[in-house]
Amino acid sequence: MLLPAPPDAVELVVATVVVGRGVFGGRAGDGLAVGCADGASVAATPPDESALDPALVVADPQPPSSTTAAKAMARAGAFRIGASPRSVVPRLTVSARRSFPMVLRSSSFAAYHRVTMEPRLGRSPSTVTQEAPVPDHTAMDAFIRDIPKAELHVHIEGTLEPEMLLELGERNGVELHCASAEECRAAYHFNGLQHFLGLYYAGVEVLVTARDYYELTTAYLRRAHADGARHVEVFFDPQSHTSRGVPFAVVVEGIRRALVDAERQLGVSSGLIMCFQRDRSPASAIIALETARPYRHIIAGVGLDSAEVGHPPREFEDVFRVAREAGFRTVAHAGEEGPAEYITEALDLLKVERIDHGVRAIDDRTLQRRLAREQIPLTMCPLSNLELQVTPDLAQHPLKRLLDAGLRVTVNSDDPAYFDGYLAANYAAVQHALGLTRADVAALARNSITASWLPSARQTKLLAEIDAFVAATS
Ligand code: HPA
Ligand code: ZN
Repeated sequence: MLLPAPPDAVELVVATVVVGRGVFGGRAGDGLAVGCADGASVAATPPDESALDPALVVADPQPPSSTTAAKAMARAGAFRIGASPRSVVPRLTVSARRSFPMVLRSSSFAAYHRVTMEPRLGRSPSTVTQEAPVPDHTAMDAFIRDIPKAELHVHIEGTLEPEMLLELGERNGVELHCASAEECRAAYHFNGLQHFLGLYYAGVEVLVTARDYYELTTAYLRRAHADGARHVEVFFDPQSHTSRGVPFAVVVEGIRRALVDAERQLGVSSGLIMCFQRDRSPASAIIALETARPYRHIIAGVGLDSAEVGHPPREFEDVFRVAREAGFRTVAHAGEEGPAEYITEALDLLKVERIDHGVRAIDDRTLQRRLAREQIPLTMCPLSNLELQVTPDLAQHPLKRLLDAGLRVTVNSDDPAYFDGYLAANYAAVQHALGLTRADVAALARNSITASWLPSARQTKLLAEIDAFVAATS
């Protein structure tokens, strides 16, 4: 069998953590230990033999709080948004690296969030310490973190934190552009999508074995869970792996194993979406599609990503038709750097169910009315848009205007290791910049569920959980 079934007994162990290394791999008992910054470590076996599973991993109804692992996760999350004890927060410890403007803008809300909401596991020992004001946003922060929600736009390769990049680079003998996590992060300032993609695809090269993909995905899922994600739909870029000689099966096996384990251990359900790179040829996309065909029961859908300008959706019309005929669901990045017309093309020619980003819908009122009428979800990624200069600042981001116009807008993290914020940080950033109310945040969370590909029964359950959460926190 292709994919391994996880062992029934998953043991939680408390392990010694190497401070400054963040998520790490090592041996614990009979399993592969995936570590976490607070000293907790969930033991899980590496990929091996297994049975096949359906394309969507639907979470066990067992509440995660009933497991020891979940308690460890709660500890891991204790210093995230809203839960940070005031006695801890006032001293904001930051890295000295020159090019980390959000941290150095220490008086801003954003800086506060960069450190308290989304501390990077294993942040390197600090060299600069400064006083940070403590904005009174803790109630909203906790609301944002804890409200049940889904993440529908995250590239698993974009969750590769520098610590893991270095570790895998060393393990697999891949030469890197940076020698320390600080040096890697110092390079994460982008003048646009193309600039970012250069580093993103360079980073991908450290991923070689199923274990690498397993550890990468597990680290992301732990963070998403700590940010209140109850369901995730994860992109991967097969061509960036197979073009280097990594077999498709290795990539899918490692990611899928982590998704299955997270469903069991954390109660996070999931789906997997394979993206075609639009800066490669349609012929290359067809080869990827044919390679994926036997995995249709594991891969829920296909998407379209990478450099947008000059690569309109119409080039992939045939690829998407074949994909739909093979039973894959469809999404596409459109209107990130490309114009509003690309959104219309993606809908009319690729017949996609969701638009990833869709920022440029703000330029076309007719398109907005259509998106609202047809309730086509937009999976928006505020911090990505900020970091890639799609928007000059978040106060000008169209998210709230589109939400108010009745579009099914969602909030997501895109490539959080590069854009400096996971799911809750994206909600918080946009909440603050656009003055979103609790009702707005709840609407975004509801949209994330109704825009997902979850079966209606689980959607209904999660929507009821959102309603109960909102009522309990009013
Ligand atoms: N945009 C387009 N393609 C991508 C991205 C993105 O933000 N991340 C990874 N591939
Ligand atoms: Zn994306």
